[in-house]
Amino acid sequence: MKLCIVLIILCFCAIAGGALCSERNPKSRLTPLGRANLSHRRPLNLDRFLFGAPYYPEHWDAETRKNDADLMAAAGFNVVRMAEFAWDRMEPKEGKYDFSIFDETIARLGAKGVRTILCTPTATPPRWLTIKHPDIVRVDENGVPQAHGSRQHCCHASETLRRYSRRITQAMAEHFRDNPNVIGWQTDNEFNCQFSECHCDSCQKAFVEFLRDKYGKIEELNRRWGTAFWAQSYSRFEDIPTPRAKPTYVNPAHALDYYRFISHTVAVFQHEQVGILRRANPKWFVMHNGVFRHIDYRGEFSKDLDFLGFDSYPLFDYSPASRPRTSAFRLDGVRGLTGNFIVPEQQSGPGGQGNYFHDNPEPGELRLMTYRSIAHGADSLLYFRWRTCRFGAEEYWCGILDHDNVPRRRYEEVKQVGSELKRVGPAVLGTSVRVDVAVATGDYSVEDGHLPLTLGLPSPGNVAAEIHGVLFTRGYAVGCVHPEDDLTGVKLYFIPHWSLFKPEWVPILEKYVKDGGVLVIGARTATKNFDNNVVPETPPGCLAELAGVHVAEYSKINRPEERPIRLTIGESSVAAPLWYEVLDSAPETEVLARWRDRFSPTGPDSVILVPGSFADTPAITCRKLGEGRVIYVGTYLMQGVVEALLPMLTEASGVKPLCPGAPPAVEVTVRENNETQLWFFLNHSDQDVKISEAPVGRNLITDEPFDGALPRNGVAVILTGASRE
Ligand code: GAL
Repeated sequence: MKLCIVLIILCFCAIAGGALCSERNPKSRLTPLGRANLSHRRPLNLDRFLFGAPYYPEHWDAETRKNDADLMAAAGFNVVRMAEFAWDRMEPKEGKYDFSIFDETIARLGAKGVRTILCTPTATPPRWLTIKHPDIVRVDENGVPQAHGSRQHCCHASETLRRYSRRITQAMAEHFRDNPNVIGWQTDNEFNCQFSECHCDSCQKAFVEFLRDKYGKIEELNRRWGTAFWAQSYSRFEDIPTPRAKPTYVNPAHALDYYRFISHTVAVFQHEQVGILRRANPKWFVMHNGVFRHIDYRGEFSKDLDFLGFDSYPLFDYSPASRPRTSAFRLDGVRGLTGNFIVPEQQSGPGGQGNYFHDNPEPGELRLMTYRSIAHGADSLLYFRWRTCRFGAEEYWCGILDHDNVPRRRYEEVKQVGSELKRVGPAVLGTSVRVDVAVATGDYSVEDGHLPLTLGLPSPGNVAAEIHGVLFTRGYAVGCVHPEDDLTGVKLYFIPHWSLFKPEWVPILEKYVKDGGVLVIGARTATKNFDNNVVPETPPGCLAELAGVHVAEYSKINRPEERPIRLTIGESSVAAPLWYEVLDSAPETEVLARWRDRFSPTGPDSVILVPGSFADTPAITCRKLGEGRVIYVGTYLMQGVVEALLPMLTEASGVKPLCPGAPPAVEVTVRENNETQLWFFLNHSDQDVKISEAPVGRNLITDEPFDGALPRNGVAVILTGASRE
């Protein structure tokens, strides 16, 4: 009997411990709670295209809210998102819960076919909590605790905040678990949006544990961080501070591990909430709306989720001309992290906070922004926000309805999209975005490793945006793909200045090239390891053999106007941007471009060699391997260089624009699966246009066959049966 009881207790502990241990112990590796493999090609498995808006019943009296359900239903809404900032409303006093406003709203909207995504409200811990536990607020690098009165003021590493976060999540999960109108959850709101670093006591303690867990022995940390420099060696983990850029530059290895610690801390915080929600109702989906600094979205954070959300605010780019390009890059970049996504917040009006106020989207622009999100991988979309709030820090952040609650043209445009989505929505589900050319993005260590020591150079992500922009504006099917992801179908692949590089990626890239891919490697790639230290090998380190080059000399170009350095690519001569590398190439490596330097007696464009200068030395090389090629570019892949290289790259890879007959102002994207293709044409110009050689199919916008005519600011979504190639 005794043995039985002991066994039962042991068994219970094992089960409970198994379920909870990763939640209690931030050191342990998180067991993924998500249900799918992450890949840029992954479609979502939603049963319908969700369309709606974040909704804040707590901001409005009943009279103002009276017609909301009818207006939403008329606009084709089938979902709202609620409660992400309503902790004080749901738990006005510690342990006293009141969900009545949400119960009532969920039921009222549900009766009209509008279901609900709920949010854990942990981005805005209430005042009673920060009074009772003042030590849960974040502390900046100057040691200043953050004040109550805004949002995101509390620290994810705080055991106390985590306890209260679990408690409110549990209370909400239990309360709503059987509500048929609640279909899924968003964790928190935009982790790390406005504030991502923290130096409070909880962080200090947790950082030490994170490092102890990672390195085991302090000697190992000292070796891998290179603490011999500036007398930084440590004898105990407890002595290592969170890094602050005071009084001067920090050790880049120390900084990168701190960023990893931040990412892990957020992942653990979220993991606890996801575990509670999944246990309460396994049918709910769980997602989070990103994407922001210091979170490894390709890592443990997203592996807990069903899918990622991306909040899309294109009007932060004040230039209407570049807006389609910058927005497309953001969307493609997010898709590159985990696959298709939902947009829990799509900008629907001008945003105003602090000292800025956006352009109001022009007639048609809201619809164009919506379809751009869908064309680039959104499988559901909600407009931020239903009605502009009359108070608070975002009282000028405009939504679909204005302060006065009168539906005007933004509502009508949303309604138009809603009716079109009855045809477009079902057609996009199950498709992924076609990618012929890809830029490597989305590696957390590569991006964050750049931050502590930028050398004044743009980040790999910034350069990826330049490359993507050149290809996007010329109508290529360009996307963002991490080297560990699926490169099938990608004919041309850019790796822009990933100084941190894993040797494990070399065989993947070698196979890619041997199978016929054209790989373009930017300067400085593979010059550092994942500890954020420089490797001892001659650049480009582990890629030297694959590329067939060595870098003999390099420099930043700080004053190109005073000391111009140019390179000739075929017929064109281009000013080298930011950086040059003089290359030694292996005999079988072809030289595609050479340096023309200022030591040449007749000027920078001269071809006369000066002994001792590097004029006429290789700047860009090409190694043929198997069916493909490796191109090494000894400068930065900024717009001018990519444009000059493009004719050669497209010829070598055979990649073509998606629809050569589309005018330049028309954005073209294809979503496809084995059976169908959906062609998205977005006309960003003020002119009606005609697309020649348009694909033959039905335009789901008009529900008629497509003849290539596209009105100004117009959209066409053409459904064709068979896949091209
Ligand atoms: C998002 C955030 C929303 C709102 C919106 C407009 O980043 O999730 O809560 O702040 O921006 O600023």
